[in-house]
Amino acid sequence: MAQRIIIDTDPGQDDAVAILLALASPEELEVLGITAVAGNVPLALTERNARIVCELAGRPDIKVFAGCDKPLSRALVTAEHVHGSTGLDGPVLPAPTMPLQSRNGVDFIIDTLRQEPEGTVTLCPLGPLTNIAAAFQRAPDIVGRVKQIVLMGGAYFEVGNITPAAEFNIYVDPEAADIVFHSGVPLTVMPLDVTHKALVTKPRNDAFRALGTPVGEAVAEMTDFFERFDRDKYGWDGAPLHDPCVTAWLLAPDLFTGRFINVEIETVSELTRGMTVADWWGVTDRPKNATYIGDLDSDGFFALLTDRLARL
Ligand code: RIB
Ligand code: CA
Repeated sequence: MAQRIIIDTDPGQDDAVAILLALASPEELEVLGITAVAGNVPLALTERNARIVCELAGRPDIKVFAGCDKPLSRALVTAEHVHGSTGLDGPVLPAPTMPLQSRNGVDFIIDTLRQEPEGTVTLCPLGPLTNIAAAFQRAPDIVGRVKQIVLMGGAYFEVGNITPAAEFNIYVDPEAADIVFHSGVPLTVMPLDVTHKALVTKPRNDAFRALGTPVGEAVAEMTDFFERFDRDKYGWDGAPLHDPCVTAWLLAPDLFTGRFINVEIETVSELTRGMTVADWWGVTDRPKNATYIGDLDSDGFFALLTDRLARL
């Protein structure tokens, strides 16, 4: 029985690869819909990019919705310096022809959780948590109906990528993250601590190109573009594939290791806004609320990813 998921996303080259991996795995993952959120680039671009990626995967049937165009209570912060002005710089991909759904993405999340049997839908946020939090605020009755949330966000040992203290997704909407991390929904977190170990080295990028398909070429060009930021900042030999860790965990959780711990979100201090205070060493008696992933088998991850992309 395929896991039924909603992908909430701000494409973003790494979001794109996470979506492609999900759409390449229909036996294991049934994508009920994709909800776009403002994040890496404004909403008008993230919803457009989500449709571009669905068509690249040959799936113009996927329902794509636009959700929130800004955080719950703060101004939007974007990351064109990482993802380029379109948010999907690198490959030249055709403009989308598939429609954007008319319903708002937040309403789609609420409606789906109310209509589907309790405990059967997994939410996969890959960007700021605005849409998820807005749905929970507007419809508290759906919170207990969510099977689990598997998200990319946060950092502890790796510290921040947008500020010295915070990872981008949490930084953009800390209030939304606070709502999600205190919702009581079973939560698995893919922080920079693990995603920074999923680096697209040249041999791995060459393997994408060697697929000899439009998808393989596009992914190679996306990750070539995407790595500039991290190479300049960290001196790495490749881009970290943050968001695909979410999809890969759903497909092959044994590739990952982590701990069930307490994670709190800084929402008050401007200095540490969006910091995920992860009690990895259990030094507090704060209630545990998240399976916090710290490591992965990166060769196994890239083998799975490349094998699945070959199917598209
Ligand atoms: O900090 C990395 C996260 O921010 C990823 O989800 C990337 O796509 C951006 O949204
Ligand atoms: Ca993202």
